[in-house]
Amino acid sequence: MQEKLHCDFLIIGSGIAGLYTAYHLADLGSVVLITKSSLLESNTSYAQGGIAGVLDEHDSYESHIQDTLKAGAGLCDEEAVKILVYEGPKHIKKLIELGAKFKTTPEGNLDLHREGGHSFNRIVHAGDLTGKEVAEVLINSIKNKNIQVLENTSAVELITQFHLDEPGDPILKEPVCYGAYVYSRKTWEIFKIISKATILATGGAGQVYLHNTNPEVSTGDGVALAYKAGAIITNMEFYQFHPTVLYNPNQSSFLITEALRGYGAKLLDYEGKPFMHKYDQRKELAPRDIVARAIDAEMKKSGSPHVYLDITHKNPEETKEQFPHIYQTCLRMGIDVTKQWIPVVPAAHYMCGGVEVDYWGRTRLKGLFAVGEVAYTGVHGGNRLASNSLLEGLVFGYRIYEYLKNNFIEKASKSIKPWYKEGLNNPEEWILVQHNFQEIKNIMWNYVGIVRSNLRLERALRRINLLYDEVIDFYRRTVIQNKILELRNITLVAKIIILSALNRKESRGLHYSTDYPENRNPSKQYTRVMRTVGKEFYLLKS
Ligand code: FAD
Ligand code: SIN
Repeated sequence: MQEKLHCDFLIIGSGIAGLYTAYHLADLGSVVLITKSSLLESNTSYAQGGIAGVLDEHDSYESHIQDTLKAGAGLCDEEAVKILVYEGPKHIKKLIELGAKFKTTPEGNLDLHREGGHSFNRIVHAGDLTGKEVAEVLINSIKNKNIQVLENTSAVELITQFHLDEPGDPILKEPVCYGAYVYSRKTWEIFKIISKATILATGGAGQVYLHNTNPEVSTGDGVALAYKAGAIITNMEFYQFHPTVLYNPNQSSFLITEALRGYGAKLLDYEGKPFMHKYDQRKELAPRDIVARAIDAEMKKSGSPHVYLDITHKNPEETKEQFPHIYQTCLRMGIDVTKQWIPVVPAAHYMCGGVEVDYWGRTRLKGLFAVGEVAYTGVHGGNRLASNSLLEGLVFGYRIYEYLKNNFIEKASKSIKPWYKEGLNNPEEWILVQHNFQEIKNIMWNYVGIVRSNLRLERALRRINLLYDEVIDFYRRTVIQNKILELRNITLVAKIIILSALNRKESRGLHYSTDYPENRNPSKQYTRVMRTVGKEFYLLKS
């Protein structure tokens, strides 16, 4: 049994952000990387479309910047977007150097796809299995580095001044993170990992919604952990719904990449008529918020459970060659996409808000960094541009390395309390955990979805408040297990999303309210929630 581990850098999460940051930080010191399932289980591994970057001589940085800003509905941090776009290509090239095999043209140039909101073909890809390729390459590249990997290990709580044997001043101006208490899913033990710098790379929270594209591990843990430790959580009302997920009510969701629309797929209503021209002149290639809302409106109008995506007019062999994974998966489900329309619906996909960080990945807590989907850098604003997410993980992961290379962080010198083991094992109550999970997903799907209203949000808040009290009570009484941790985290995240949505009294990007249908408040940039001494869910003025 281990009670504690020491390292220079603790990385929590093994998606693109965690792996790429670990790869670089290992050059500066010892790294422990924990991940709550296997190394490969992450959103990253399921990414299809690719990574956006200015890699064609006819493309321009300015065009990628403008496309990102436009999609972001006026809420992006322009400086962060410039960093993303200018620094991105170097990291895509680094992936290639590490062994990533992106598709090339017969002439040997990168084969660049196009997706919604982009004015140029600028998405590098490995067919429709880009994420798997990137994840495998990165996992391979960290093998010979000074990195201790702990799979099946979940972060339970960040260690702050409150966990010191001699607690620090509770209202410290600069709160500090000293590492994390972590839980082994194999041994059920909880132990401390003490680090100079802790990097949250825990991805998103898609599991908060009934229908979503994310794997089971996406339960918003990083946001919950950081919130509990006193970090600022920003713009959580902007949850992105991907417009085209295979309609398949009884099985887990399967994404139909946006690159398919870039390739020429058309959206058709339930009767087979095109409809996107009624919503946006860019039609199928409008940004995601617009396309998802259009589909939602068409489904509500017709009462149909889905719309269709049609790719039957394209050359079948080319379709199979470009999108082999989608072709095969749909075929297994009885749909030959070269001959039949694909039934699709929108589903929750990406968390645009997150733990607020600066351009170097620093949170409000000294020693605590966040990167990737868990972080709010400002690059996505009110709606993320397609294929900018993997890019963000690379660019800002490297920036954390650059920061830590040039700045010294002290190790905790005071002694830290061991985890206080308490709680009972209540097997008869386990089914309640499952029920709570389901209830939260339903509440979020029904009342905090693509189209919102004050009435729905307030109804959602009343229900979540009740569940929140029940879940926290259960968490305190019961021995820790992964599902309980995830339930605590998802309940917290749901509450923060609802509070943030109620606080944004306008319609912008992904947040659409029937009470405020116009863009009414151009001066409001942020909805920021934090916890301070004596105050839960404190909404900061933006
Ligand atoms: P993730 O890849 O989600 O990794 C998070 C890691 O943290 C996981 O390993 C998880 O197990 C671990 N973790 C979570 N909680 C804990 C905890 N408490 N303790 C320890 N470990 C923990 N984006 C694009 O740019 N292009 C695309 O083509 C694209 N396609 C997508 C397709 C699908 C189906 C999905 C779901 C997403 C897609 N996205 C795409 C979005 C993109 O994949 C993600 O935003 C990105 O991979 C996030 O990377 P990350 O490293 O931040 O998080
Ligand atoms: C997709 O392939 O459609 C997903 C791309 C993304 O989420 O950026």
